[in-house]
Amino acid sequence: MKVVAGNWKMNLTLPEAVELVKSIQPVSSVKVIVFPPALFAVPVTRHACRGIETGVQNIHHEDFGAYTGEVSAPMAVSIGMKYALVGHSERRHIFGETDEQVNLKVKKALEHGLKVIMCVGETLQERESGRAFEVVERQVREGLKGIDDLSSVMIAYEPVWAIGTGKNATPQQAQEMHEFIKKIVDVPVLYGGSVKPSNARELLSQKDVDGVLVGGASLKADSFNEIIRIASELS
Ligand code: PGA
Repeated sequence: MKVVAGNWKMNLTLPEAVELVKSIQPVSSVKVIVFPPALFAVPVTRHACRGIETGVQNIHHEDFGAYTGEVSAPMAVSIGMKYALVGHSERRHIFGETDEQVNLKVKKALEHGLKVIMCVGETLQERESGRAFEVVERQVREGLKGIDDLSSVMIAYEPVWAIGTGKNATPQQAQEMHEFIKKIVDVPVLYGGSVKPSNARELLSQKDVDGVLVGGASLKADSFNEIIRIASELS
């Protein structure tokens, strides 16, 4: 079953978020997940129809405590969320999240029964200097260190140079990296980075592309629904 996940990042107002989740049309052959801003997690989860699961864009690695501004795995579980996105490149590069922190967060999410989408991906400089595979391998191994049961884990390969830039990896580049990741760990691998209706079919047709993590194109019901439709034809 293909996965289509939407990462809304720090976008939308409450009425827009509720309107958007109500407009999503899931299909039974595709796993549809949305990651709303934490502030809108309750209403979006409540209004998500059957066939849409919700998740938190980031969690802290402790359960509760004096961590102003943070949200935790037990909080997400308590409102009915099923997923946690961990190690998104914006968390790594803007907020300085390390592989060690990503690993603690993955463990914490799994401990509370959340499923995890762990993001990995190289920067443009790392790709151009021939280090893309080495960097991604390190992120995968360090992020999942000490975790034996990977049945609730998916990886999203999101080359940093392709996120929000309109420059997506070619389907061949995505396939090559997904195949590489699957040799390290046997988990579903999603592709992310400027996925839109016009390139979703070719990306999702690759043998080792199990789904997509969509940013910009998940903010409009029309484009997100179109990607779900394309995924259903390939599932
Ligand atoms: P984008 O974002 O689709 O806007 O490039 C993807 C992501 O960051 O998950």
